[in-house]
Amino acid sequence: MDRILIRGGNRLSGKIAISGAKNAALTLMPCALLTDEPLTLRNLPRLADVDSFGHLLNELGASTAIEGTRPTDFGRVMTMRTGQLSSTVAPYDIVRKMRASILVLGPLVGRAGVATVSLPGGCAIGNRPIDLHLKALEAIGAEIELAAGYVKATAPGGRLSGGRFRFPVVSVGATENVLMAAVTAKGGSVLENAAREPEIVDLCNLLVAMGASIHGIGTETLEIEGRDRLHGATYKVMPDRIEAGSYACAAAITGGDVDLVGANANDMRATLDALVEAGVTVEEKKGAIRIAAPDRIKPLTLSTAPYPGFATDMQAQFMAMLCMSSGASVLTETIFENRYMHVPELTRMGANIEVHGRTAVVHGVDRMTGAQVMATDLRASMSLILAGLAAEGETQVNRVYHLDRGYERLEEKLQGVGADIERAGDG
Ligand code: UD1
Repeated sequence: MDRILIRGGNRLSGKIAISGAKNAALTLMPCALLTDEPLTLRNLPRLADVDSFGHLLNELGASTAIEGTRPTDFGRVMTMRTGQLSSTVAPYDIVRKMRASILVLGPLVGRAGVATVSLPGGCAIGNRPIDLHLKALEAIGAEIELAAGYVKATAPGGRLSGGRFRFPVVSVGATENVLMAAVTAKGGSVLENAAREPEIVDLCNLLVAMGASIHGIGTETLEIEGRDRLHGATYKVMPDRIEAGSYACAAAITGGDVDLVGANANDMRATLDALVEAGVTVEEKKGAIRIAAPDRIKPLTLSTAPYPGFATDMQAQFMAMLCMSSGASVLTETIFENRYMHVPELTRMGANIEVHGRTAVVHGVDRMTGAQVMATDLRASMSLILAGLAAEGETQVNRVYHLDRGYERLEEKLQGVGADIERAGDG
């Protein structure tokens, strides 16, 4: 299994190109199931999860053709076409590898009137139930059955009716799933307390480009008028705000000065505001965001929250950055119950962190030291890379497959700004 080796201490400087957003890609791709016409997505990141989603679409009868497969290409173009569905079942073997597979449930039941998807099961960052996905689909007319580890959604008479649903808790995935189902329902739907993440806006914009009618885009109330059919479209995936935020932390923790090329500041205000509060210079330039580190990072008090709040997907990277700050920071994780798996590993590198339930107190230290570490999820793995960039000596990050799910050519991008980082095989 591959590992990443980092010799810490280099100051990062230069430009990093930001890729298309993983979490947007994973909700735009299932839209290919909603029409028999081609859907072309540009700026798709080259990531293991995107490949897996392509395989899932193939399993359901979609053809997928990719351009931009040369090793030097950033941003691929994928054309997907589901002339006819060959199956309405997302099997266990695929779903267990990628939780986002649940996002075929809505579009499949919308198009075919029936969908069967394996239940995703547990996950390293908490239980992550799908009850809200199912309740929301029920509210717009689906009948839900659970059996043998699978969920089956059926639209009586072959078509969903539409309806009204108020999310008791904000859920990105459930909002996406029900949106993709509601756009082809017989009647209208109203979704209240819907997620407002930029990836949801990206999804709405694609659906509108495919002929859907959605009002209230970017707000917590989405009104959808069902359409008899949707058509194909060509659409560019938004830039990855979490990748951009992660590299901003990399610049900050190494005393660096980096331009994040292609990042969109409007999608990541809470992250940029927190960086400014930590003393980091954030300069919005044309086509890029410049991140320049202060002499010493200042401590912060941060709590994760649904968008536009501070993203849970940035918590681990900020924690790594704050390990080297000038005082005590307080981080509170309100979205997932088990998202401090990186703490023991950061501690092994010399960090001083106490966890009390959902709150972590990070006491800044003057130096961290390289170690052999591993993490159990994507963003936690990134926090170890960040710590490794700033630590003295060599850090070896194992279980690189987590990083490959979400960071396109991580080591190449970091090498490009002066990091001493490489991937090593088992050999
Ligand atoms: C998405 C993102 C993930 C991000 C998260 C929160 C993708 C592929 N993943 O995950 O990177 O960390 O949003 O911004 O886009 N919940 C329920 N029942 C449900 C659904 C969710 O109780 O049916 C709870 C979850 O356990 C969690 C909270 O709601 O506590 C938010 O989860 P949700 O927004 O749904 O996250 P995901 O869509 O899984």
